[in-house]
Amino acid sequence: MGIDTGSTGRGFDTDTAARIRANEANWDARTPIHAASAFYDLPGRDPRAWFADFEWDDLGDLSGKDLVHLQCHLGSETIAFPPLGARVVGLDISGESVRAARALAASKGVEVEYVQADVHAAADTLGASRFDIVYTGKGALCYIPDLTAWATEVHTLLRPGGQVYIVEFHPLLNALSPTPPPDGDETLLLRHDYLSGRGPTTRDATHTYTDGPPLTTATTSHEWQHGIGDVVNALIAAGLRITRLRETEQLPWPRWSTMTPTTGWYSLPDNAPRIPLIYALQATRP
Ligand SMILES: C[S@@+](CC[C@H](N)C(=O)[O-])C[C@H]1O[C@@H](n2cnc3c(N)ncnc32)[C@H](O)[C@@H]1O
Repeated sequence: MGIDTGSTGRGFDTDTAARIRANEANWDARTPIHAASAFYDLPGRDPRAWFADFEWDDLGDLSGKDLVHLQCHLGSETIAFPPLGARVVGLDISGESVRAARALAASKGVEVEYVQADVHAAADTLGASRFDIVYTGKGALCYIPDLTAWATEVHTLLRPGGQVYIVEFHPLLNALSPTPPPDGDETLLLRHDYLSGRGPTTRDATHTYTDGPPLTTATTSHEWQHGIGDVVNALIAAGLRITRLRETEQLPWPRWSTMTPTTGWYSLPDNAPRIPLIYALQATRP
Protein backbone atom coordinates (compact mmCIF):
# COMPACT_ATOMS: atom_id res chain seq x y z
CA MET A 1 0.00 0.00 0.00
CA GLY A 2 1.58 3.30 -1.11
CA ILE A 3 1.05 6.86 0.02
CA ASP A 4 -0.69 9.27 -2.34
CA THR A 5 0.94 12.65 -2.80
CA GLY A 6 -1.44 13.72 -5.57
CA SER A 7 -4.51 15.95 -5.61
CA THR A 8 -5.74 14.95 -2.15
CA GLY A 9 -2.40 16.25 -0.83
CA ARG A 10 -2.75 14.82 2.66
CA GLY A 11 -0.78 11.60 2.47
CA PHE A 12 -3.75 9.25 2.34
CA ASP A 13 -2.90 5.66 1.46
CA THR A 14 -3.40 4.97 -2.25
CA ASP A 15 -6.68 3.08 -1.70
CA THR A 16 -8.22 5.96 0.24
CA ALA A 17 -6.93 8.51 -2.27
CA ALA A 18 -8.47 6.44 -5.09
CA ARG A 19 -11.81 6.37 -3.22
CA ILE A 20 -11.75 10.17 -2.88
CA ARG A 21 -11.08 10.50 -6.62
CA ALA A 22 -13.90 8.05 -7.36
CA ASN A 23 -16.22 10.22 -5.25
CA GLU A 24 -15.14 13.29 -7.22
CA ALA A 25 -16.01 11.52 -10.50
CA ASN A 26 -19.29 10.26 -9.04
CA TRP A 27 -20.32 13.77 -7.92
CA ASP A 28 -19.32 15.18 -11.31
CA ALA A 29 -21.64 12.60 -12.90
CA ARG A 30 -24.47 13.28 -10.45
CA THR A 31 -24.33 17.04 -10.86
CA PRO A 32 -26.29 17.61 -14.10
CA ILE A 33 -28.96 15.17 -12.89
CA HIS A 34 -29.24 16.88 -9.50
CA ALA A 35 -29.22 20.35 -11.06
CA ALA A 36 -32.22 19.42 -13.26
CA SER A 37 -34.08 17.52 -10.52
CA ALA A 38 -37.39 18.38 -8.90
CA PHE A 39 -35.72 17.41 -5.57
CA TYR A 40 -33.39 20.43 -5.70
CA ASP A 41 -35.82 22.61 -7.71
CA LEU A 42 -33.04 25.14 -8.30
CA PRO A 43 -35.19 27.67 -10.19
CA GLY A 44 -38.06 27.64 -7.70
CA ARG A 45 -37.04 26.63 -4.19
CA ASP A 46 -36.26 29.35 -1.64
CA PRO A 47 -32.69 28.53 -0.48
CA ARG A 48 -33.71 29.21 3.12
CA ALA A 49 -36.06 26.20 2.90
CA TRP A 50 -32.95 23.97 3.14
CA PHE A 51 -32.34 25.29 6.66
CA ALA A 52 -34.15 24.56 9.90
CA ASP A 53 -35.21 27.60 11.94
CA PHE A 54 -32.81 26.65 14.73
CA GLU A 55 -29.88 27.03 12.32
CA TRP A 56 -30.47 30.76 11.96
CA ASP A 57 -30.79 31.10 15.76
CA ASP A 58 -27.50 29.25 16.24
CA LEU A 59 -25.62 31.07 13.49
CA GLY A 60 -26.67 34.49 14.75
CA ASP A 61 -26.05 37.75 12.90
CA LEU A 62 -24.13 37.06 9.68
CA SER A 63 -23.62 40.64 8.56
CA GLY A 64 -20.00 41.39 7.77
CA LYS A 65 -18.94 37.80 8.50
CA ASP A 66 -16.58 35.75 6.32
CA LEU A 67 -18.25 32.36 5.84
CA VAL A 68 -17.06 29.27 3.99
CA HIS A 69 -19.47 26.50 3.03
CA LEU A 70 -17.48 23.27 2.76
CA GLN A 71 -18.75 20.59 0.32
CA CYS A 72 -21.33 23.02 -1.08
CA HIS A 73 -22.41 20.89 -4.10
CA LEU A 74 -24.85 22.95 -6.26
CA GLY A 75 -24.75 25.91 -3.88
CA SER A 76 -28.48 25.48 -3.18
CA GLU A 77 -27.77 26.31 0.50
CA THR A 78 -24.72 28.55 -0.09
CA ILE A 79 -26.76 31.27 -1.82
CA ALA A 80 -28.87 31.74 1.33
CA PHE A 81 -25.93 33.41 3.16
CA PRO A 82 -24.98 36.50 1.08
CA PRO A 83 -28.41 38.17 1.35
CA LEU A 84 -27.88 38.05 5.15
CA GLY A 85 -24.75 40.14 4.82
CA ALA A 86 -22.02 37.48 4.81
CA ARG A 87 -19.06 37.33 2.40
CA VAL A 88 -19.27 33.75 1.20
CA VAL A 89 -16.94 31.13 -0.29
CA GLY A 90 -18.20 27.72 -1.41
CA LEU A 91 -15.78 24.80 -1.75
CA ASP A 92 -16.34 21.45 -3.38
CA ILE A 93 -14.15 18.72 -4.90
CA SER A 94 -16.46 18.33 -7.89
CA GLY A 95 -15.65 20.69 -10.76
CA GLU A 96 -19.11 20.09 -12.23
CA SER A 97 -20.71 21.06 -8.90
CA VAL A 98 -18.64 24.23 -8.72
CA ARG A 99 -19.66 25.16 -12.29
CA ALA A 100 -23.33 24.50 -11.50
CA ALA A 101 -23.08 26.48 -8.26
CA ARG A 102 -21.55 29.45 -10.09
CA ALA A 103 -24.38 29.34 -12.64
CA LEU A 104 -27.03 29.17 -9.90
CA ALA A 105 -25.55 32.10 -7.97
CA ALA A 106 -25.34 34.16 -11.19
CA SER A 107 -28.95 33.35 -12.09
CA LYS A 108 -30.10 34.53 -8.65
CA GLY A 109 -27.87 37.62 -8.66
CA VAL A 110 -26.02 36.44 -5.54
CA GLU A 111 -22.27 36.91 -5.04
CA VAL A 112 -20.35 33.81 -3.96
CA GLU A 113 -16.73 32.82 -4.64
CA TYR A 114 -16.65 29.13 -5.57
CA VAL A 115 -13.46 27.07 -5.39
CA GLN A 116 -12.83 23.51 -6.52
CA ALA A 117 -10.69 21.68 -3.95
CA ASP A 118 -10.55 18.63 -1.76
CA VAL A 119 -11.79 19.60 1.69
CA HIS A 120 -8.65 17.98 3.11
CA ALA A 121 -6.67 20.77 1.38
CA ALA A 122 -9.15 23.56 2.19
CA ALA A 123 -6.86 25.65 4.40
CA ASP A 124 -3.93 25.54 1.96
CA THR A 125 -6.32 26.48 -0.86
CA LEU A 126 -8.33 29.22 0.86
CA GLY A 127 -5.92 30.52 3.49
CA ALA A 128 -5.44 30.08 7.23
CA SER A 129 -7.40 32.12 9.80
CA ARG A 130 -9.59 33.58 7.04
CA PHE A 131 -13.14 32.79 8.19
CA ASP A 132 -15.51 33.68 11.03
CA ILE A 133 -17.79 30.75 10.18
CA VAL A 134 -17.27 27.32 8.64
CA TYR A 135 -20.63 25.82 7.65
CA THR A 136 -20.98 22.23 6.45
CA GLY A 137 -23.24 19.21 6.49
CA LYS A 138 -26.40 17.52 5.25
CA GLY A 139 -24.52 14.75 3.53
CA ALA A 140 -20.93 16.02 3.82
CA LEU A 141 -19.12 14.18 6.63
CA CYS A 142 -19.87 10.75 5.16
CA TYR A 143 -17.25 11.57 2.47
CA ILE A 144 -14.52 12.24 5.04
CA PRO A 145 -12.24 9.25 5.63
CA ASP A 146 -10.19 10.95 8.35
CA LEU A 147 -12.13 13.22 10.71
CA THR A 148 -8.96 14.25 12.55
CA ALA A 149 -7.41 15.64 9.36
CA TRP A 150 -10.73 17.30 8.46
CA ALA A 151 -11.11 18.94 11.90
CA THR A 152 -7.55 20.29 11.64
CA GLU A 153 -8.49 21.94 8.30
CA VAL A 154 -11.57 23.46 9.94
CA HIS A 155 -9.52 24.79 12.86
CA THR A 156 -6.94 26.28 10.49
CA LEU A 157 -9.59 27.99 8.33
CA LEU A 158 -11.10 29.76 11.35
CA ARG A 159 -9.97 32.98 12.94
CA PRO A 160 -9.63 32.87 16.72
CA GLY A 161 -13.19 33.30 18.01
CA GLY A 162 -14.63 31.85 14.79
CA GLN A 163 -17.15 29.01 14.82
CA VAL A 164 -17.79 25.83 12.89
CA TYR A 165 -21.42 24.82 12.47
CA ILE A 166 -22.13 21.26 11.33
CA VAL A 167 -25.71 20.26 10.56
CA GLU A 168 -25.57 16.63 9.61
CA PHE A 169 -27.71 13.54 9.18
CA HIS A 170 -27.81 11.73 12.48
CA PRO A 171 -25.98 8.39 12.51
CA LEU A 172 -29.28 6.87 13.65
CA LEU A 173 -30.94 8.06 10.41
CA ASN A 174 -28.05 6.54 8.46
CA ALA A 175 -28.46 3.28 10.40
CA LEU A 176 -32.20 3.28 9.58
CA SER A 177 -31.23 4.20 5.97
CA PRO A 178 -31.69 7.78 4.77
CA THR A 179 -33.57 6.60 1.68
CA PRO A 180 -36.45 4.09 1.60
CA PRO A 181 -35.32 0.49 0.98
CA PRO A 182 -36.08 -0.97 -2.48
CA ASP A 183 -39.05 -2.98 -1.10
CA GLY A 184 -40.58 0.25 0.26
CA ASP A 185 -40.70 -1.16 3.82
CA GLU A 186 -41.60 1.73 6.15
CA THR A 187 -40.58 -0.04 9.37
CA LEU A 188 -38.13 1.78 11.66
CA LEU A 189 -35.57 -0.98 11.30
CA LEU A 190 -31.81 -0.75 11.86
CA ARG A 191 -30.32 -1.69 8.49
CA HIS A 192 -26.77 -0.29 8.76
CA ASP A 193 -24.07 0.41 11.36
CA TYR A 194 -24.61 3.30 13.77
CA LEU A 195 -20.96 3.34 14.88
CA SER A 196 -17.89 3.72 12.69
CA GLY A 197 -15.03 1.25 12.62
CA ARG A 198 -15.72 -0.97 9.63
CA GLY A 199 -14.01 1.29 7.09
CA PRO A 200 -15.60 2.59 3.92
CA THR A 201 -18.91 1.46 2.46
CA THR A 202 -18.84 1.20 -1.32
CA ARG A 203 -21.98 1.71 -3.40
CA ASP A 204 -22.47 1.11 -7.09
CA ALA A 205 -25.75 2.79 -7.98
CA THR A 206 -27.21 4.38 -11.08
CA HIS A 207 -29.70 6.39 -9.01
CA THR A 208 -28.93 8.82 -6.21
CA TYR A 209 -31.31 10.49 -3.74
CA THR A 210 -32.91 12.72 -6.38
CA ASP A 211 -35.34 12.07 -9.19
CA GLY A 212 -34.05 12.09 -12.76
CA PRO A 213 -32.36 9.82 -15.29
CA PRO A 214 -29.78 7.18 -14.32
CA LEU A 215 -26.06 7.84 -14.09
CA THR A 216 -24.27 6.28 -17.04
CA THR A 217 -20.69 6.73 -15.80
CA ALA A 218 -18.82 6.84 -12.47
CA THR A 219 -21.54 5.01 -10.58
CA THR A 220 -19.26 3.96 -7.70
CA SER A 221 -19.01 6.04 -4.52
CA HIS A 222 -17.52 5.48 -1.08
CA GLU A 223 -18.77 6.64 2.31
CA TRP A 224 -17.45 6.53 5.85
CA GLN A 225 -19.88 6.29 8.75
CA HIS A 226 -19.07 8.48 11.77
CA GLY A 227 -20.72 8.29 15.17
CA ILE A 228 -21.38 11.60 16.93
CA GLY A 229 -18.64 10.76 19.44
CA ASP A 230 -16.13 10.53 16.58
CA VAL A 231 -17.07 14.00 15.31
CA VAL A 232 -17.04 15.55 18.78
CA ASN A 233 -13.67 14.01 19.64
CA ALA A 234 -12.11 15.04 16.31
CA LEU A 235 -13.13 18.66 16.92
CA ILE A 236 -11.79 18.56 20.49
CA ALA A 237 -8.52 16.98 19.33
CA ALA A 238 -8.11 19.76 16.76
CA GLY A 239 -8.34 22.35 19.54
CA LEU A 240 -11.96 23.47 19.05
CA ARG A 241 -14.34 24.07 21.96
CA ILE A 242 -17.80 22.49 21.63
CA THR A 243 -20.52 25.00 22.48
CA ARG A 244 -23.72 23.28 21.33
CA LEU A 245 -25.03 19.87 20.30
CA ARG A 246 -28.64 19.58 19.15
CA GLU A 247 -30.46 16.41 18.17
CA THR A 248 -33.65 17.03 16.22
CA GLU A 249 -36.49 14.91 14.89
CA GLN A 250 -36.90 17.02 11.72
CA LEU A 251 -35.75 16.33 8.17
CA PRO A 252 -35.86 18.60 5.08
CA TRP A 253 -37.58 15.86 3.05
CA PRO A 254 -40.19 13.16 3.93
CA ARG A 255 -38.02 10.05 4.27
CA TRP A 256 -41.08 8.10 5.53
CA SER A 257 -44.48 8.61 3.88
CA THR A 258 -46.04 9.08 7.33
CA MET A 259 -43.95 12.21 7.96
CA THR A 260 -45.86 15.46 8.17
CA PRO A 261 -44.64 19.00 7.47
CA THR A 262 -43.62 20.99 10.54
CA THR A 263 -42.17 24.50 10.11
CA GLY A 264 -41.29 23.66 6.48
CA TRP A 265 -39.44 20.44 7.40
CA TYR A 266 -40.90 17.00 8.12
CA SER A 267 -41.38 14.99 11.34
CA LEU A 268 -42.62 11.49 12.10
CA PRO A 269 -46.20 11.32 13.45
CA ASP A 270 -46.93 11.61 17.18
CA ASN A 271 -47.46 7.86 17.55
CA ALA A 272 -43.98 7.03 16.22
CA PRO A 273 -40.95 6.78 18.53
CA ARG A 274 -39.19 10.13 18.98
CA ILE A 275 -35.80 9.65 17.35
CA PRO A 276 -33.06 12.05 16.22
CA LEU A 277 -32.74 12.45 12.44
CA ILE A 278 -30.45 15.48 12.19
CA TYR A 279 -27.87 16.83 14.61
CA ALA A 280 -26.26 20.25 14.81
CA LEU A 281 -22.85 20.70 16.36
CA GLN A 282 -21.27 24.07 17.03
CA ALA A 283 -17.71 24.67 18.14
CA THR A 284 -15.45 27.70 18.40
CA ARG A 285 -11.75 28.23 17.86
CA PRO A 286 -10.45 29.71 21.14
C1 LIG B 1 -24.72 15.79 -0.45
S1 LIG B 1 -23.62 17.07 -0.97
C2 LIG B 1 -23.66 18.09 0.44
C3 LIG B 1 -24.07 19.51 0.07
C4 LIG B 1 -25.46 19.94 0.39
N1 LIG B 1 -25.81 19.72 1.77
C5 LIG B 1 -26.47 19.32 -0.54
O1 LIG B 1 -27.25 18.47 -0.11
O2 LIG B 1 -26.52 19.70 -1.70
C6 LIG B 1 -22.01 16.33 -0.82
C7 LIG B 1 -20.91 17.13 -1.52
O3 LIG B 1 -19.63 16.75 -0.97
C8 LIG B 1 -18.68 16.88 -2.01
N2 LIG B 1 -17.47 16.15 -1.62
C9 LIG B 1 -17.33 14.81 -1.46
N3 LIG B 1 -16.07 14.54 -1.09
C10 LIG B 1 -15.40 15.72 -1.01
C11 LIG B 1 -14.07 16.09 -0.67
N4 LIG B 1 -13.15 15.17 -0.35
N5 LIG B 1 -13.74 17.40 -0.69
C12 LIG B 1 -14.65 18.35 -1.03
N6 LIG B 1 -15.92 18.06 -1.38
C13 LIG B 1 -16.30 16.75 -1.36
C14 LIG B 1 -19.38 16.32 -3.22
O4 LIG B 1 -18.76 16.71 -4.41
C15 LIG B 1 -20.79 16.89 -3.03
O5 LIG B 1 -20.95 18.06 -3.77
